[in-house]
Amino acid sequence: MSSRKPVTLHRLREMRANGEKIAVLTCYDAAFARLLDDAGIDALLVGDSLGMVLQGHPSTLGVSVNDMAYHTACVVRGNRTAWVIADMPFGSYQESTKVALRHAVQLLQAGAHMVKLEGGGWTAPIVRSLVERGIPVCAHLGFTPQSVNALGHRVQGRDEAAAGVLRKHAEELAAAGASLLVLEMVPAGVARDLTQQLSIPTIGIGAGAGCSGQVLVLHDMLGVTRGEPFRFVRNFMDGSASIDLAVRQYVTDVKSGRFPDDKIHGF
Ligand code: KIV
Repeated sequence: MSSRKPVTLHRLREMRANGEKIAVLTCYDAAFARLLDDAGIDALLVGDSLGMVLQGHPSTLGVSVNDMAYHTACVVRGNRTAWVIADMPFGSYQESTKVALRHAVQLLQAGAHMVKLEGGGWTAPIVRSLVERGIPVCAHLGFTPQSVNALGHRVQGRDEAAAGVLRKHAEELAAAGASLLVLEMVPAGVARDLTQQLSIPTIGIGAGAGCSGQVLVLHDMLGVTRGEPFRFVRNFMDGSASIDLAVRQYVTDVKSGRFPDDKIHGF
């Protein structure tokens, strides 16, 4: 059992300021929450990827707020010290700031420390409204899985104009009070520049080594997910004798900058 103090928002900001990389993994249940927390994962993301990983859906679109609250509560019961982020699922914040607030409250009452929502500048008023009411928010830009039908499964921000839009949205979300930003499937150079320009930590997934931290879907990095893995995924079970050692290797490699390797995992 680790003697780590609970990870707070202040601690995550301090890590960014000190250049200490933030290691994040998705987590959906109590058993893995305990294992990941003991292995030194800084933040557990109860991702709506559970729609694919646990529920067998083709996308995240079918996940409900009740599903998210259930899995958040399971994770919280297994966790001791990691920061817990819960995804606001599709349809739970798009309608109005009032609806978003009601669902964010449900996730915080399930034990989350922070909620995450996807999308650009149009979400800034929602972020501001939640933050003003004491709810920390993680924004999510680049490839946003809830928009898969509109975007396709493609790298975002590849040309200069698209990178400029990404930068504008990131600045708007940070100004609205978002305190973390997930960047998914963004060219490594764009994510590195954004990370230097913003005052909040960035957490990359397929966004290169220049982010303040990294996140992967747990079942991807343990090699449980079937099919061709995404370019940005490394199977940490390769060469590891146990799940515990694989997760510890992930923490070590993220913190030391050995993962990701932009030549292998970057765009
Ligand atoms: O739901 C999820 O797992 C996520 C990650 C891909 C960042 O949002």
